[in-house]
Amino acid sequence: MTARTTTTTSTGSASAAGASFTRVEGREKVTGAARYAGEIPFAELAHGWLVLSTIARGRILSVESDAVRTMPGVLAVLHHGNAPRVDSDYISMLGPPDPIVEVFQHDRVPFVGWPVALVVAETSEQAREAAEALVVRYEEKSHDVAFSAGHPGTYTPDGDGMLVEKGDLEAELAASAHVVDAEYTTPEEHHSSMEPHAAMARWDSGRLEVVDSNQGSTWVADELAKLFSLDPASVRVRSEHVGGAFGSKGVRVHQILAVMAATLLDRPVRVVLSRRQLFSLTGYRSPTAQRVRLGADADGRLRAVDHQSHSLTSTVHEFVESSAGFGRPMYASDAHRSVNRVVRLDVPTPTYMRAPGEAPGSFALESALDELAERCGVDPIALRARNEPDVGPVSGLPFASRNLLSAFQEGARRFGWADRDPRPGLRREGRWLLGTGTAAATFPVIVAPSTAAVTAEADGTFTVRITAADVGTGARTALTLIAAEALEVPQERVHVRIGDSDFGQAAISGGSMGTRSWGWAVTAAVAELREQLALGGDIPPQGITVRSDTAAAVGGLSKKERHSYGAQFAEVAVDVTTGEVRVRRMLGMFAAGRIINPLTARSQFVGGMTWGLSMALHEEAHRDQATGGHVGADFAGYHFAANADVPLIEADWVQDTDADDPIDIKGIGEIGIVGAAAAIANAVWHATGVRHRNLPIRPDRILNGGGAPGA
Ligand code: MOS
Repeated sequence: MTARTTTTTSTGSASAAGASFTRVEGREKVTGAARYAGEIPFAELAHGWLVLSTIARGRILSVESDAVRTMPGVLAVLHHGNAPRVDSDYISMLGPPDPIVEVFQHDRVPFVGWPVALVVAETSEQAREAAEALVVRYEEKSHDVAFSAGHPGTYTPDGDGMLVEKGDLEAELAASAHVVDAEYTTPEEHHSSMEPHAAMARWDSGRLEVVDSNQGSTWVADELAKLFSLDPASVRVRSEHVGGAFGSKGVRVHQILAVMAATLLDRPVRVVLSRRQLFSLTGYRSPTAQRVRLGADADGRLRAVDHQSHSLTSTVHEFVESSAGFGRPMYASDAHRSVNRVVRLDVPTPTYMRAPGEAPGSFALESALDELAERCGVDPIALRARNEPDVGPVSGLPFASRNLLSAFQEGARRFGWADRDPRPGLRREGRWLLGTGTAAATFPVIVAPSTAAVTAEADGTFTVRITAADVGTGARTALTLIAAEALEVPQERVHVRIGDSDFGQAAISGGSMGTRSWGWAVTAAVAELREQLALGGDIPPQGITVRSDTAAAVGGLSKKERHSYGAQFAEVAVDVTTGEVRVRRMLGMFAAGRIINPLTARSQFVGGMTWGLSMALHEEAHRDQATGGHVGADFAGYHFAANADVPLIEADWVQDTDADDPIDIKGIGEIGIVGAAAAIANAVWHATGVRHRNLPIRPDRILNGGGAPGA
């Protein structure tokens, strides 16, 4: 693998960033030496197994634990009647916590799969056997899990970005030569990462130690300290290796229950969630129903953009999938309106999932633009170019850097777009109808204050300590390259340690802000360290350490529209007799700031695009209306793209710099999925002449010529 994919493995050059490097922990991972939270051995370790509710709404009447307390190995059965109290009345980094943190604090059941008991035993198998034998009695009430755009009780939440209006929308629509008015739906989707959530907790000399799999160890430590009313300095959370997260790995029940059980039993306890449990305990992407209205002049110049998105949330917490915001920074238009509405149902609370808002929002708006291009007889790329804004279309703010059109230009060249006949349903190859499609992508560029420490060691090496999380992205390697470049030393002399809350506050691996935020802190610490080293003198045995904090610098950033961009292309083949859609190739061309490590960056983009393919054709979670729970909450029932579904996917990028940006890294974790499903749906239209506005584009929907949302 190394020899084939790595252009540079060890140059020893003074400027590492920009060349391709395999992951610094790659050998450990592929040999199994890298240990994940669920597999690190601890002496005296006990194991917890969760019992989840089987009703969608009601009350727990009794947890009949006596019968299982005598089963082999069982140490304890925790539930709302005996669990320690927690203080959940706090504001976390992302606002009020999901009430899932109130686990075992009351007898109410708000959805199927709510945690009702934890069986702790000597072995995981014993805990599981007892958990499966545990009888829980309920008082059941009627429930409602049926999502639709017109559901009674739908409301527009308060808060930033829920409703944004500019100009006179109805007047501009009325004056438009062409109007597209269409509804798009996306189903409930899950980010069930390869490594399920797992945490070990133990008390060690008066300190609480948690070994976890998360997107931010200071974030988790801070919330656990608040929940258990502990001095923050007495909580240490570590998360060395993480097998995927995608927005699902914050504070969840597994850490809280491990802490409760470790406290009660006074020994280390680990709680590992099963694949099926992830479906109700770790968040998901809400289904959406989106209405888009576009009004344009005869030549395709936009007069009106109206995007109304509906999603669901639980009865206990408000989380909004903000799909309607996608177009706000994208297209010039005389009038803009976008609104996110939500309805409360008896389901688990959805959460952030790779490109929350932008992933489903781009499917709707970028499909609608393709429909508009068809109406106007304008090439889809030319249509986007015609509506390219000079400043933020809604905000009026200048763009920090915006290279959407160069991404389209280079993408079109490589994909061979110029040869495309725009008419649909004309190309046939045996039983396959062929088509191509394109769509735009964007994602916000965010940064959060972070601290880092860099030590010049006496042996000539450098150690970086930062509470970064490498959720599989290659962040640890990128930070090594960033530090080596700033230090002007070969990367072999730099050791980066991450995933330990004792290293201090830092941004989470979320919102595509990780490498940008951490890279800024590392660069700042290195700059000061180099000033100290320039003074000369010997390095003492303990080394020389400099700490940075980017809070002031981040706060001083000028107000601009900061985004990454992309142009997605897809070619599909559709068998109209079986309904099968095969994606033959995809190309994503991105304008996403400075790329630190091309090898892992490409992997990020391709991963996102693959997920977009999966979203377009495969993924949907089904809820049984009668029970309120999932049907097939596992990898047999939840279908996603496998190797044979994924063709050659090419991802690359164009030059994208902002001289005014102090770090000039934009973040690439999420943009790969944005627009990918729309490009495929647009290609399916080009192949067949039929618009598919409901995802996923299943064979039965191809056979039905579009398919209704509920079908
Ligand atoms: Mo990501 S969905 O911002 O963790």
